[in-house]
Amino acid sequence: MFENVQAAPADKILGLMMQFREDPRDNKLDLGVGVYKDSHGDTPVLAAVKSAELRLFDSQKTKAYVGVQGDKEFCAEMASLVLGDSVSMDRARICQAPGGTGALSILSMLIGRTAPDATVWLSDPTWPNHMPLLKNARLKTQQYPYYDTKNGKLLFDGMMEALSAAKPGDVLLVHGCCHNPTGADLDLAQWAAIADLCLEKGLLPFVDFAYLGFGDGLEEDAAGLRLLASKVPEMLIAASCSKNFGVYRERVGAAMIIAAAPAQAEATFTQLMSVTRAVYSMPPDHGAAIVRMVLTDPHLKSEWITELNDMRNRMLKLRSGFAEALRRESNSSRFDFIADQRGMFSRLGIAPEEIDRIRADHGIYIVGDSRINIAGLPDNRLDEVARAIVSSIE
Ligand code: LMR
Repeated sequence: MFENVQAAPADKILGLMMQFREDPRDNKLDLGVGVYKDSHGDTPVLAAVKSAELRLFDSQKTKAYVGVQGDKEFCAEMASLVLGDSVSMDRARICQAPGGTGALSILSMLIGRTAPDATVWLSDPTWPNHMPLLKNARLKTQQYPYYDTKNGKLLFDGMMEALSAAKPGDVLLVHGCCHNPTGADLDLAQWAAIADLCLEKGLLPFVDFAYLGFGDGLEEDAAGLRLLASKVPEMLIAASCSKNFGVYRERVGAAMIIAAAPAQAEATFTQLMSVTRAVYSMPPDHGAAIVRMVLTDPHLKSEWITELNDMRNRMLKLRSGFAEALRRESNSSRFDFIADQRGMFSRLGIAPEEIDRIRADHGIYIVGDSRINIAGLPDNRLDEVARAIVSSIE
């Protein structure tokens, strides 16, 4: 069976992460994979998460299965964190999922099961794992223009124009905030235009929400998604807790379905649970139990919000500091867009051979499409990284 199997192409981000681990240089710097690092270059466990984990250790009485939906209190807390009061909860159903990717995958399989002929429209560019996971669900895909990398600009008109070719029942995949890989987000007027487009053309919005709280704040980052949820009859959301709770390896996420009426939500949810049962049966408990404990304890919740605010403010400071350093080194405004974008990522808009040179000569790892993890920049190396970049480009 395996004699003729060809090796799968390496994932752009994970391949780079492995290459970085094998690089023996002391001053190497990983600006590839999306992991937040503090000013010491560490990714520590958040204090609120650690406290919850200790409590969990003391209070947990069983390791029996958590059930196919996962932790129901976690689901309810996630629904209120993400949706606020934008939609009546009897039209929504939520399950726990193994990370944002797990949520995206089971929702994609749900689309495959209930609307196999739908085309999923996704941004160009998008997170490199979107396409493979949609293909895994045997879905057709098409991309809409989203970002002009050369000029650091959102292409909203181009996006809307391309989407005019979408058919009723097609799915529109959008990033809820902190667009990965560009850091260029939709404003509220653009979210409203997307809601109108979905209503007019009968499209199903599918929101990938992996960076809540990493852009401008918990409420601010959810505003576009909530606006959409308040207008459309149906919607899918894949939320992740990896970044905002720093629980990456615990794999914590939530998949949400909004339907036009409670009975439809319930029937669709039974299909989602049947997909889940066939794929991994039941989700892991540990990480979601921690997030549930943080969100239901007022003291831990406020500690977490403070820690989340610190991470966000540090990223915003890094953005402006790095844009300034690049301005000084390049003597130009070419990279000024970095200061205005949001979240962990921006695209430098430099050529692949320049990225290779930066890695070979300076040990600085940037994804091949020129995506840089701003949150991986050490405060005291902004000038050095800016110099390495500018000296390696034409
Ligand atoms: C990223 O985009 O770097 C993160 O979301 C990690 C991943 O799984 O790719």
